Amino acid sequence: MEDTGHVFKTQLLAGRTALVTGGSSGIGKGIAALLHRLGAQVHIVGRDAQKLQAARQELGAIEVHAADVRDHAATQEVVRKVAAAQGRIDILVNNAAGNFHCPFEQLTPNGWKAVIDIDLNGTFNYCHAAFEALKASPWGGRVVNITLAQGVSGWPGSAHAASAKAGVTALTRSLAIEWGPHGIRVNNILPGPIGDTEGVKRLYEERGLAEKELERLCLDKFGTTGDIAQSVAFLCSEAGGFITGCDMTVDGGRWLKRAWV
Ligand code: COA
Repeated sequence: MEDTGHVFKTQLLAGRTALVTGGSSGIGKGIAALLHRLGAQVHIVGRDAQKLQAARQELGAIEVHAADVRDHAATQEVVRKVAAAQGRIDILVNNAAGNFHCPFEQLTPNGWKAVIDIDLNGTFNYCHAAFEALKASPWGGRVVNITLAQGVSGWPGSAHAASAKAGVTALTRSLAIEWGPHGIRVNNILPGPIGDTEGVKRLYEERGLAEKELERLCLDKFGTTGDIAQSVAFLCSEAGGFITGCDMTVDGGRWLKRAWV
């Protein structure tokens, strides 16, 4: 995993308890790594026990939880365990996602359901289970949902993922309003293509489309997991104290250029 370092002061997030779904690889692992380096007590959730152990070995003193975000009962158990130590959760990052390229007419109902269940219902599960624990944060709970600009613009070959992410975007805004009085900030981060991730591998590299995708980016390069992690850290710090319901697009200008390329 590329480590681009960070610009934040040491121990910026000391004392915080953070929970990151899909935290054993890719963007989620990058987020977990930075929150850990900034002093947070980090818990990650993933489906694959081996990948979770590998992440723990790589990142150091983090806690791992083997669970599927689609499983509501398992989610409640994970949240209960994470909250048990401090009686609260300060940061929740809903990052777990599934996607594959498939023209809509070839998509099976189960294929559609798998992605909606992971991306949208998984985000519901963790937000729903974590409400009381987030409410208890002395810094004001922070929820960061990883969505996509394609949830607004549409995404040929990934209508399932675009629809799920559009749902997450609407959930973010709704919760920002409902949970504002409890001091909980709820925001979206919209990453562009991030190099060295399963998403870029599946959607562009394996299909021979990496160069074409690069042409869509104003900055002519894929992002790094560190780019997304630093945006999460910003929103979860005091700097993000007055930000809620926002879309933070961290995509090298991908959504702009593609309108006319
Ligand atoms: N094209 C078309 N349909 C596909 C597919 C593909 N490439 N991959 C999976 N599906 C369909 C399956 O055929 C199945 O439908 P069916 O029962 O009607 O045949 C359905 O999706 C569920 O597949 P399954 O493999 O049983 O689901 P899963 O729960 O094990 O995995 C996925 C969920 C499909 C999202 C899987 O890709 C995954 O686990 N992804 C996580 C990582 C990831 O996607 N990273 C990239 C993020 S951008």
